[in-house]
Amino acid sequence: MSQRWDELLKRDHEVTERVFAAMEAKFSCADPPPPALVGLLVQYLHYVDQCHNQKEELHLFPRLEQMGMPRHGGPLGVMLQEHDRAREILARLAPLATAYAAGDRQTLAELAAAFAEYAALCKDHFWKENDILYPMALRMLDDGQAAEVVAGIEQVEAALGAGTRAHYYRIAEEIVGRAELADLSFGLERDVLAAILNTLPVELSFIDHEDRVRYFSHEHGEKIFGRTRGAIGTAVHNCHPPKSLHLVNQILADFKAGRREVAEFWIDMSGRMIHIRYWPVRGDDGRYLGTLETVQDVTAIRRLTGEQRLLGPA
Ligand SMILES: [Fe+2]
Repeated sequence: MSQRWDELLKRDHEVTERVFAAMEAKFSCADPPPPALVGLLVQYLHYVDQCHNQKEELHLFPRLEQMGMPRHGGPLGVMLQEHDRAREILARLAPLATAYAAGDRQTLAELAAAFAEYAALCKDHFWKENDILYPMALRMLDDGQAAEVVAGIEQVEAALGAGTRAHYYRIAEEIVGRAELADLSFGLERDVLAAILNTLPVELSFIDHEDRVRYFSHEHGEKIFGRTRGAIGTAVHNCHPPKSLHLVNQILADFKAGRREVAEFWIDMSGRMIHIRYWPVRGDDGRYLGTLETVQDVTAIRRLTGEQRLLGPA
């Protein structure tokens, strides 16, 4: 089934926002962004201005105007003003980026500032389109007009060459991949990520693919099972009593062989119900990276009944 016009335009926004996030991380990093990456960015921004914005300006906005939305003032006027403003910033940004990509490092500070201004404007603009303009347009346009917008979108892309969208989406993916933002957690500072793990209502321990203890959470908080830094680096077999060793070995062997996706236990600890689970951690390519242990006191969760929809006491 072919996609709706708003889905196509929102997808453009989403891909562009990923490019912005990747480049924002690169520009704020101590190491300057690689020139080749900035070269890819200039190419991609050409798509935003010459393709994405054109789809709206040539095929969506005029139809909204026909249906009675004024071109000046109101949401349409704001969107057009922002497209113009983005074009102005891009006119400044593109030559700086091209010079940087060609090896001129002097442009970095000015380039980073222009990029930050461009990305901030576009992100705010995309949000307004996604949440305000497109929902209004969906109510105003009938099925025939909606189909005309889709045809117009295809026409703008075709005018720039066959496979235009796929081509630029590939560039976007390359930027994101090179900036190592393929996963959202790459965009977080390590101390923020560590604080998130320590905020989970679950205690975590991780052993690597060689069965060595590498990490545990809540180091400075109260824990269900005490752990000290001395455990880091030791073989997991040394941390378990001999009577449970065969179980540990069996779980790890099953995880490594891909025979099991979780091993689960629950125990009564002086009236507290403790839920302990082991999970194989695998990379994107399915490679076994290690085993994660999660330990949670589920006593209070097991007691829950009915619903709580109102904010309880602090
Ligand atoms: Fe847009």
